[in-house]
Amino acid sequence: MDIIWHEKTKQFHLCNDTISYVMYVQPNGELGHLYFGKCIHDREDFGYLVNRVPLPVTAYYDTKDYFSIELNGQEYPSFGAGDFGSPAFKIIDQTGSGISNFTYLTHEITSAKKQIPGLPATYAAEDEAMTLEVELVDEFTGMHLFLSYSIFRDFPVITRSARFENRGKNELILDRALSLCLDLTDADYEWLQFSGAWARERHIKKRKLCEGITAIESRRGHSGANQNPFVILKRPDTTEEKGEALGFSFVYSGNFFAEAQGDANQKLRFIMGIHPDNFSWIIKSGEKFSTPEVVMARTENGLNDLSHTFHSLYNNHLVRGKWKNKERPILLNNWEATYMDFDEDKILQIASKAKEAGVELFVLDDGWFGTRNDDTRGLGDWFENREKLPDGIKGLAEKITAMGMKFGFWIEPEMVNPDSELYRIHPDWTLSVPGRKSTLCRNQMVLDYSRQEVVDHIHDMIYKILNDAPVSYIKWDMNRSITECFSNSLTDKEQGMVYHKYILGVYQLYERLINEFPDILFESCASGGGRFDAGMFYFAPQAWCSDDTDAEERVFVQYGTSYGYPISFIGAHVSAVPNHQTRRTVPMAMRGNVAMFGAFGYELDLNRISEAEFEMVKDQIVFVKEHRKLLQYGVFYRLSSPFESDQASWMVVSDDKKKALLAVYSMRANVNRLRGPLKLSGLDSEKMYKVGDRNYYGDELMNVGLPLREDIIPGFNMAEDSSSAVVEISEV
Ligand code: DGJ
Repeated sequence: MDIIWHEKTKQFHLCNDTISYVMYVQPNGELGHLYFGKCIHDREDFGYLVNRVPLPVTAYYDTKDYFSIELNGQEYPSFGAGDFGSPAFKIIDQTGSGISNFTYLTHEITSAKKQIPGLPATYAAEDEAMTLEVELVDEFTGMHLFLSYSIFRDFPVITRSARFENRGKNELILDRALSLCLDLTDADYEWLQFSGAWARERHIKKRKLCEGITAIESRRGHSGANQNPFVILKRPDTTEEKGEALGFSFVYSGNFFAEAQGDANQKLRFIMGIHPDNFSWIIKSGEKFSTPEVVMARTENGLNDLSHTFHSLYNNHLVRGKWKNKERPILLNNWEATYMDFDEDKILQIASKAKEAGVELFVLDDGWFGTRNDDTRGLGDWFENREKLPDGIKGLAEKITAMGMKFGFWIEPEMVNPDSELYRIHPDWTLSVPGRKSTLCRNQMVLDYSRQEVVDHIHDMIYKILNDAPVSYIKWDMNRSITECFSNSLTDKEQGMVYHKYILGVYQLYERLINEFPDILFESCASGGGRFDAGMFYFAPQAWCSDDTDAEERVFVQYGTSYGYPISFIGAHVSAVPNHQTRRTVPMAMRGNVAMFGAFGYELDLNRISEAEFEMVKDQIVFVKEHRKLLQYGVFYRLSSPFESDQASWMVVSDDKKKALLAVYSMRANVNRLRGPLKLSGLDSEKMYKVGDRNYYGDELMNVGLPLREDIIPGFNMAEDSSSAVVEISEV
């Protein structure tokens, strides 16, 4: 790993064993992009890559040597001074103009990574990464721009962010401030996005790029279930196993925007950052603004390899605290068992059966506080409903702990119901426009987390409970998108700052609570997977992945999620049948076989299942406990996609390749049909492995594959609906 500065040619070369990134100070003083790809030898001068050609109707910075911004890659382009593509930023100055010209001033190369104040970001120790910060200045306004690039030693990864510092006299408006622009020399890519909606999150969608714009976004105030802030650009022939691909992951949980723009010369610009619509940040003289981080990864070895980079990077350089790389407790959550209709006796009965099954953590979901007996009331009143819990959270937590389980509970701290004590006292604490009707969603409004007193108030209420009771886990929910995004505490000119200030408030509350209660495992949730982004995982190392607990639906959701996020992040539970979202009845075996590839748990009353099913639950728990490290932290390979047939498979392999678990799922009965063989991945070609009753060489398993027959994969019968198996593979 190195960051080389060539003083004479004013070129930077960031490199490690796998990737190189080259940029330079252009004739106009701005930063230009030359190369991002496989690692290459360094040289003093990559200037031959700069296009200096006379082309008609082209804007030239200097007509003598035909240097044009339009024809050359830019690092962080502005609009209106020769670049006609989508800009990375826009500053409105005192004249009303949006033109800028940021020229190179100096730079600093340091070891490790710098954190971004108030924002989540990947981190690295001294010898694990190097950082280049290039300082540029716009002389006209006095604004300084710091472009930050960190390269990791052991990952094909560069992270990017930008910081603006107003050292001029005038107030400036930052109207757009993305985190990354990457200009690629060709547009022969397919764009993969992870889209859906509530209960069908992160389904893979593919588009072929060409001239023009391809984009995804969220304007919902959170990253959202509809689009995920993660994009892959892959070559058309790239598969799971081979080929080039780039991945871009936004470490942020609010409104976002990602766009690829192909130009007339088949060049491609990729940009990503905070959504520029409804964003307008005032930077007074002396103030700063930092963008969130984008993690940019590259592979030559297919999409599984790209995912491994994100999995390992996020497990080791994003998750913090006690739960980093730690196996997750098997939990039982009462939501689908009782909804809000419970009292302490009912909860203790459910918990006691869970304990008998081997569950390690009991989670009390929504409905324990204020007047919360249905979803029309109570949010904001974070004190116990004594009719339901006579001894409060403390009493219940002590009883569950005495049973030998850990205890956790649900909160939705960013929300308030109009029917609540909090709202009656502080109606102005919501995001709402005075004089206009507020749009309700699930009967609730969003608290104004751009206001410090709101964050402080909610903090104090939650702190009180956590400080009082033996609590090991918190599920932090967020069940509606933001509308009427207006803060009563800000001026008319400042309203463009609310969305971002809101998310900074959320991050601040998380940071305070995780510092005050470092042993608590936080799980984030937003009606399931509505805020499943890298920003959240900096605070909460796992997230409820989807409100859809139907195992078949979950195969799609978890398969799509695995592209950008590690398995340990994916909250996945076995629930009752018929399933509450789809009314489908999926066998207990399949429900367990899907959920165990995640932060595993149950979401049903185990008193209400048959004896035979209860025995299966006990076996599942024993199995997960035995293989938990491998299931949650093994190297995960997607083998066959549910998006391409009615059958899916994946596997996890231990680092030493001695053990693996193969999972196969068949959604619909294959009548009168043979399937397979299924080629496995990630094993050692030379090792002999036992699968079922037979032994095979690793190269056989990976090149010939396993026929999808019950005599080969015990328990798997493709002639049945919802058949599945998880098979142990171990070195002989
Ligand atoms: C939405 C979550 O995704 C569910 O798991 C549950 O916690 C409900 N909210 C409770 O209101």
